[in-house]
Amino acid sequence: MSDKSSGSVIPPRGDPQDAVHGSRRTGRTAAVIPAAGRGERLGPGAPKALRPLLGTPVLVHAVRAMCRAEAVSLVVVVAPPDDPGAVTEMLAPAGLPPGIEVVVVPGGASRQESVRLGLAALPPDVDVVLVHDAARPLVPAHTVDAVAAAVRAGAPAAVPAMPVTDTVKRVDPDPSRAPGAPEPVVATVDRAGLRAVQTPQGFARQVLAEAHRVHADTGGSEGATDCAGMVERLGHPVVLVPGHEEAFKITRPLDLVLAEAVLARRETLAHDR
Ligand code: CTP
Ligand code: MG
Repeated sequence: MSDKSSGSVIPPRGDPQDAVHGSRRTGRTAAVIPAAGRGERLGPGAPKALRPLLGTPVLVHAVRAMCRAEAVSLVVVVAPPDDPGAVTEMLAPAGLPPGIEVVVVPGGASRQESVRLGLAALPPDVDVVLVHDAARPLVPAHTVDAVAAAVRAGAPAAVPAMPVTDTVKRVDPDPSRAPGAPEPVVATVDRAGLRAVQTPQGFARQVLAEAHRVHADTGGSEGATDCAGMVERLGHPVVLVPGHEEAFKITRPLDLVLAEAVLARRETLAHDR
């Protein structure tokens, strides 16, 4: 059963007595999609969320991914602030499921500020919030639902994560070193204890709101790039659930090539079925 189809809640999973779990939650689940970034690392062109993947904007893929999840009944899109109307127009013909409410609000100068503006648009009956980067348009629905289920079962925060596959070295960052100059290795990090996190990151609404109240954005273009990190700093437990390789973030031009290849593979698989 989903709160999308019936107005009721997803059956709680997990052990409510577990030390990392608080009380079970019974309200609605909303997705907030920060999509207001420029996409500087993609190079010149339209804002990242508006760039096409096989002819459909990155953001439309991301909104569809949230709509496919059982848990989500409301999507708040945080649009590039210069032209939020363009995003509303782009989503209108996107054929989104009628049972899901989609709201567009203008974003801010940093991801943290954009998330804060998205949270401000949530109605009172939302008690679980999934913050999902528009830049991760291909996350599978079961990953989204696994995050929501962990929070619904009582975790204050749940984040999808993947094992780290690269060997990782520690260096001593030295701003005075010329770009590209050789860097001395300080240590090799044991990757068994490392995880790379993805989105959607799920939160009890009150916990995320508290994090945004306490950790005011210090300005600049970055702010906090990870909501869960803000929640950790407040001392709340954060749990990891299995992530998915298709939930990768589009950051550099090669990521667009990979995303289009994933979409083409999905179309082929759907056609062969
Ligand atoms: N984001 C946002 N508002 C900002 C900055 C970022 O809503 N002021 C969003 C982006 O649109 C993206 C997500 O946060 O969906 C993750 O950020 P990132 O991948 O860094 O995207 P950009 O900031 O757009 O890219 P870059 O850092 O290369 O400029
Ligand atoms: Mg950025």
